Amino acid sequence: MTKILKNYLIKTPKHIGFILDGNGRWAKKRGLSRSLGHKAGVEAVRKTVKALIKYKIPYASMFAFSTENWKRSKEEVNCIFDLIRNLLKEERGSFINQKIKLVISGDISSLPKDLVESINEVLNIDIKDPKLTLNICLNYGGRADIARAVNKLIAQGKRSINEDDITNNLYSAGIPDLDFVIRTSGEQRISNFMIYQIAYAELYFPKIYWPEFNEKKLKKALKVFAKRNRRYGGY
Ligand code: FPP
Repeated sequence: MTKILKNYLIKTPKHIGFILDGNGRWAKKRGLSRSLGHKAGVEAVRKTVKALIKYKIPYASMFAFSTENWKRSKEEVNCIFDLIRNLLKEERGSFINQKIKLVISGDISSLPKDLVESINEVLNIDIKDPKLTLNICLNYGGRADIARAVNKLIAQGKRSINEDDITNNLYSAGIPDLDFVIRTSGEQRISNFMIYQIAYAELYFPKIYWPEFNEKKLKKALKVFAKRNRRYGGY
């Protein structure tokens, strides 16, 4: 019997962006602390990464910490950093075994030293032919990303720049533009997430909190994407 490939597995996005939103509200609804909301959010990250590999999505970007997130309490900021550090430490083996290449977008120089060490430990792994390139946006802002790219070009002595020059000098250099952006929690905003790379992305705002995201929800999102008709300004 011939195997008919499902449509959502044929027309898949190459690069999906995730704006992880709703950890706090998920926790509040259950009478839990915001920290436990972020902890559940990290479990959703693990499940999603596994599912991305299963569905053969080659690139994913996740907004883990924005430049605006410093406005939160010190306790919450430290909790998020601890969770990310533990995740990187615990999953170091998975990055190797599952062939996941880590990319970090954002200014990590102002992050705690132990977090930067864990990041560098994973960044230093040499992954050949990655199954998934995972770009984690940490202390990241889209406008700052563009300004940094322009400053890099000025430093190279450029007097005139084109779109590709900017693309090639963003943190995400070498990663294709976003095809699909998923923001959980029902909020319909981009919040300075990869604004240059998002130009032609399809946007999707499921009404679930981030800790509820999993393989099933990704499958549903891929079905939504497969039905979209991307025209890139044509008809
Ligand atoms: C949004 O929920 C979540 C965050 C600002 C931080 C989430 C970070 C993690 C779960 C770690 C992710 C790790 C990796 C490696 C990608 P919110 O606090 O804004 O929720 P609320 O809007 O309901 O308060």
